[in-house]
Amino acid sequence: MTEKPAIAVIGAGLMGAGIALVFAAAGHRVALFDAMTEARATAPSRIRDNLKASGLNPAAAAAVTLHSQLATAVADADFVIEAAPEDLALKQALFGEIEDTAKPTAILASNTSVIPITSIMERLRNKARALGTHWWNPPYLVPLVEVIRTVDTSDGTVEATLRLLASVGKTAVEVKKDVPGFIGNRLQHALWREAVALVADGVCDAKTVDDVVKASFGTRLAVLGPLENADLVGTDLTRSIHNYVLPALDRSTAASPYLDRLVEQGRLGFKSGEGFRKWPPEQQAALRERVTKHLRASFGAPVSSGSDDVGQT
Ligand SMILES: NC(=O)c1ccc[n+]([C@@H]2O[C@H](COP(=O)([O-])OP(=O)(O)OC[C@H]3O[C@@H](n4cnc5c(N)ncnc54)[C@H](O)[C@@H]3O)[C@@H](O)[C@H]2O)c1
Repeated sequence: MTEKPAIAVIGAGLMGAGIALVFAAAGHRVALFDAMTEARATAPSRIRDNLKASGLNPAAAAAVTLHSQLATAVADADFVIEAAPEDLALKQALFGEIEDTAKPTAILASNTSVIPITSIMERLRNKARALGTHWWNPPYLVPLVEVIRTVDTSDGTVEATLRLLASVGKTAVEVKKDVPGFIGNRLQHALWREAVALVADGVCDAKTVDDVVKASFGTRLAVLGPLENADLVGTDLTRSIHNYVLPALDRSTAASPYLDRLVEQGRLGFKSGEGFRKWPPEQQAALRERVTKHLRASFGAPVSSGSDDVGQT
């Protein structure tokens, strides 16, 4: 049996540890690098806890080795996935070091949320092997990974990445142009912009926005995408609706002044106990539990190498 590609993950935070978990559970060797002692110290227990919570054997965490040096982490890797903080200069510097120390055949991917992949990779000598892989949080429960190519990315790099991600159970899609926000975050933030505008305009309060989404198209979205829905109701009806409603929608090109006020008032959401709405600790815990339960019920546990499952449902 040929050995599965070796993976290196740069950054052992929320996303990096979760991505490492997915590959470890599927039987890959994973080298995990973080510059911070604390992150390295807590990563194994975080991975074990999340494996357990996903219905998988926490022993799979043993496939992840922690590294305090980037060079040793990437030395044997076939795929390097960077999940360091969202800072362009930092990511450029990391990829400079990765290019100098990884195998020349290794594929290099960034998990940036919004920074153009082209900018992150602009200093690389060989840009053909570089691309974006945008995972969603938590990476071991949300199936989607957007694979973003730049004008320099080779077809072989894209194909190998799509294959690897599919082999660990991800729904990997190709993003053919390196546009800000890729696909998912563009759609998501088009909705959030309008949600904030409705509250700012006094049409309804924040809870009502959330109730409307959750009790209507939000419930359908998991099984009916927007363009399937447009076909279902008819492109002619969709065109009429757009001609009436689009002129009334928010078209701001910067964050809403309403958001500016929340931030200035220290209403930062969960971290300060209040944002659009008030969030006492017990309501925060209840929301997190609700989301995890829903994701697990919808998507199940990550792909596992087989023998390690403990009561996967
Ligand atoms: N959190 C999300 O929902 C989400 C979703 C998709 C993509 N992303 C992106 O993934 C990346 C990581 O986000 P996160 O939420 O895991 O952040 P995080 O803060 O949880 O983790 C970042 C980790 O990088 C480490 N780090 C700092 N400097 C480093 C360096 N020089 N080299 C290596 N590691 C270093 C930190 O110690 C930390 O453990 C960001 O680019 C973010 O935008 C985040």
